[in-house]
Amino acid sequence: MNYLIAANWKMNGSKNFIESYFSSLNIKNNSEVKMLICPPDCYLDDINSIALKIILRGAQNLSTESVGAYTGEVSDQMLIDHNVEYVIVGHSERREYHNETNEIVANKFKRAIDSNIIPILCVGESLEQRQSGETFNHIREQIESVIGNDMINNSDRYVIAYEPIWAIGTGETATPEMANEVHIFINKTLNDNGLSENNNVNIIYGGSVNSNNASDLFEMSHINGALIGGASLDVNEFTKIYNIAEEINNE
Ligand code: PGA
Repeated sequence: MNYLIAANWKMNGSKNFIESYFSSLNIKNNSEVKMLICPPDCYLDDINSIALKIILRGAQNLSTESVGAYTGEVSDQMLIDHNVEYVIVGHSERREYHNETNEIVANKFKRAIDSNIIPILCVGESLEQRQSGETFNHIREQIESVIGNDMINNSDRYVIAYEPIWAIGTGETATPEMANEVHIFINKTLNDNGLSENNNVNIIYGGSVNSNNASDLFEMSHINGALIGGASLDVNEFTKIYNIAEEINNE
């Protein structure tokens, strides 16, 4: 399966930043590794006018509703109007700071699938959950609350990102073996829920990925890419990570 290398800019960026970022970002036109950039929504058009077509556009969130009196929200169709093909749902920062429950995340996931945007479902345990041995139960619950929504079975147009909360923005990465163990478990959970082992779903890792640890992570059997926060803001670093993925992808 071809890797997916996704940048989650979070609430970072500016017009100047984008201009200099894309003047240095280079990928081959025939590359098989997918490169995805998820900027704040207000910069999607700046990216549309400046970035190569081969670079995929993503959003960091979408509304559970399609239209109406929902101040501050952005709908699926609005994202599609701005060439968005992917959307992050259930990021731990949204779960924590915006009180997004598994139910809300499932509704967002369903809205994305229904409108043909590829959702990237983020799952991951806290440090406390890891230390008390609850990692697998927690992740199973996060996945099954979305699968239970009854649409995942009809589609392989989704991505799962394993992002241990304790590794996000902390400089602390899960060891490749630790991450792979969870990726295998995610694969098994999908399988237990009637999805075949060889479906076409990228299971990507996120949490302090950088050009020093990327290679060891991407060499693991069940890690098919990365969701990158901090390191994606440095175009040289992001390009390095992308090139590492490309090398391993083509092995
Ligand atoms: P990080 O963020 O790479 O800065 O740890 C990853 C994420 O939150 O998606």
